[in-house]
Amino acid sequence: MKAAVLHHNDTPLRIDDLEIEPPKAGEVAIRVAASGVCHSDLSVVRGIVQTPLPIVLGHEAAGIVEAVGEGVTHLRPGDHVIATLTPCCGECPMCREEKPFLCEKTRLTMGQGAMPDGTTRLRHAGAAVHQFCAVSSFAERSVIPAGALVKIDDDVPLDVVCLIGCAVTTGVGAVLNTAKVERGASVAVIGCGGVGLSIVQGARIAGADPIIAVDPVEEKRTLARSLGATHAIDPAAGDVVKQIRRVTGSGVAYAFEAIGNVEVMAQAWGCLRPSGVAVIVGVSRPNEEIKLRAGGLLQQKAIMGSVYGSAVPQRDVPRLVDLYRKGELRLEPMITRRIRLEQVNEAFDAMSRGEGARSVIRFD
Ligand code: APR
Ligand code: ZN
Ligand code: ZN
Repeated sequence: MKAAVLHHNDTPLRIDDLEIEPPKAGEVAIRVAASGVCHSDLSVVRGIVQTPLPIVLGHEAAGIVEAVGEGVTHLRPGDHVIATLTPCCGECPMCREEKPFLCEKTRLTMGQGAMPDGTTRLRHAGAAVHQFCAVSSFAERSVIPAGALVKIDDDVPLDVVCLIGCAVTTGVGAVLNTAKVERGASVAVIGCGGVGLSIVQGARIAGADPIIAVDPVEEKRTLARSLGATHAIDPAAGDVVKQIRRVTGSGVAYAFEAIGNVEVMAQAWGCLRPSGVAVIVGVSRPNEEIKLRAGGLLQQKAIMGSVYGSAVPQRDVPRLVDLYRKGELRLEPMITRRIRLEQVNEAFDAMSRGEGARSVIRFD
């Protein structure tokens, strides 16, 4: 089968012909219908997120079940599914505490580029190829831990709802699950790519007001306004914290960082009102340090990470599909272009330039 493989950091993905093994116990084989291209894929190319190579990237996918391994009861061939980023092993301490977004197996699927058992189902000329987040959706087919797959209705377009696999769950979940933003609360969203625009939509759904979107790219600010932002700020027009304070007076109750830039994380802290919460969604290099003004602690400000929107996928993915159906979650405008697998490197180039929101790879 055809797959886009990262062989070396900072080089283009190469289309290779890979062998794929059948699903083992607790695993499911899917035909990938569509995959979004996310900044975290680019972060692996750049070595900001480290995984072993070679690897098949892609982790924002929807598809159709082709075969199920032993013991898999919640899925059958033909089912439409969204792939999520947590194996939801159900056995580790975090899963048992109903925090599957922190499932300990994620260390293997994300960091070691393998299935939860530490091995991979992909081969190239006999040699193992790693799997990213155990999804590896820049490929025609994939074998995925059954716990990571959520069945959805057959009548929703897979090349749209694939965004729920990462950006939407991450962004909307950061607002509704992690921060639990209240109606009428003031919100700033710094960075308006696929993840940030999902945060903007989550804030609108929560009834937040104002919703202040920050992005240097005009197209993104316009998109953010059309998806629910009440104000849009260009960082090039002056100090971001001051610009946000000009809108709100005392600062915002919630500030979301959706870039992965530690300097911007400090801006998220700086623009909070007393008792405000900075929610960090972007992923930076793990050893980078954030510089925060200690005075904010006397205002009882807080800062916290948000991992995968604190999502419980079997609960949240169907809810998000429902919101999409009702028109409350607008996914189409977030898709800038639909491309073929061979164009994946062009999508990374566009993303590096800040152009467009999501590119979606379609497999026909
Ligand atoms: N201030 C505000 N916005 C910025 C800044 C800045 N200093 N620098 C970049 N941006 C904007 C870009 O213009 C772009 O619109 O941030 C946005 C980032 O969007 P994408 O590259 O599409 O990234 P996305 O896929 O949304 O992921 C964002 O979340 O899951 C993590 O690893 C992911 O860290 C990444 C973050
Ligand atoms: Zn992602
Ligand atoms: Zn677990």
